[in-house]
Amino acid sequence: MALPRVLSVIGAGQMGIGIALVASLRAKIPTVLLYDRDPSQITKGLEFMDKLLAKDVSKGKTNEDDAKAARGRIISITSSSASSSTSNNDEFGWARELGERGSDMAVEAASERLSIKEGIFRTLAKNLSRDAVLASNTSSISITKLAGAAVEGLGSTISKASEEGKSCAGRVVGVHFFNPVPVMKLCEVIPGLQTSEVTLERAKAFAVACGKEVSTSKDVPGFVSNALLMPFLNEAIMCLESGTATRDDIDKTLRLGMGHPMGPLQLGDIFIGLDTCLAIQETLYEGTRDSKYRPSVLLGRMVDAGWLGKKSGKGFYEY
Ligand code: CAA
Repeated sequence: MALPRVLSVIGAGQMGIGIALVASLRAKIPTVLLYDRDPSQITKGLEFMDKLLAKDVSKGKTNEDDAKAARGRIISITSSSASSSTSNNDEFGWARELGERGSDMAVEAASERLSIKEGIFRTLAKNLSRDAVLASNTSSISITKLAGAAVEGLGSTISKASEEGKSCAGRVVGVHFFNPVPVMKLCEVIPGLQTSEVTLERAKAFAVACGKEVSTSKDVPGFVSNALLMPFLNEAIMCLESGTATRDDIDKTLRLGMGHPMGPLQLGDIFIGLDTCLAIQETLYEGTRDSKYRPSVLLGRMVDAGWLGKKSGKGFYEY
């Protein structure tokens, strides 16, 4: 199955940077376009990528030429750098640039908010070629819903049931990577109701080329991964909230008693972020209307306080 020649990664946070890195270094995609609406996020992310590449070289995992070539294949796209033909107040200039550069696959890795992702899918569908794969790295949001947004991007004259609408929705798929992307071995692939077989196979081939094992999940809230992981984390926070055990004892129990690489509170803090934990848990709760998924009150309060984990300097632990 053909791999993309020009991949666009939307969002230069931890996940977007990790995906761009494995796509360039492992899958050797010839061009990887990296877009974020905040240029400082791209600068920060690429600095982190340089550190990861330098570490790989120093450990002999990658040679210097391969690392340099991988880095050279990544091109930053910012709203202000986008296409000279773009006027200053054209908020979609970046997406047109991705299209003009021939992007044949996009992976969206923006914040875990439905409205943000829907906006991106509308824009991508409008600006990328009509056979580009439109993938989301969402942790929990419905791929079927994002496919609907993509069709809306084609304009009000194209209905979801029309041939053009179905063909557009057929190109949308979930490719769910795990943090840290270069280290975690899985990519969960999620077809929406409308995803075509060809798109599904292209998504799997991409994930395998990035060095990942693939598991497939139906498009249910949280998919397999977060339908299992997030209630576990939420329960851990409820244990803390109810005083069942201290933070350290909760994490120690799972680390030493069950052999987890890190405790659930540490995992939420360091590799997921408490805002994302809350967003996923809310998607599970709202998507199923099942009270067993009720988000912990403490989790909501911590997000209100801006205590989001390592990225904000404080979560359950101080950083
Ligand atoms: N980025 C890239 N690489 C990283 C990293 C990061 N943020 N943190 C650690 N690593 C690398 C290290 O550099 C090291 O690589 P080398 O072997 O090349 O030296 C390797 O990971 C192991 O690191 P350490 O020896 O320092 O530490 P460790 O043995 O404690 O392992 C870990 C680190 C692999 C991350 C381990 O703690 C772990 O598996 N934690 C659980 C992570 C997890 O569950 N992630 C999934 C979260 S859920 C999600 O992402 C999706 C969602 O939908 C919520």
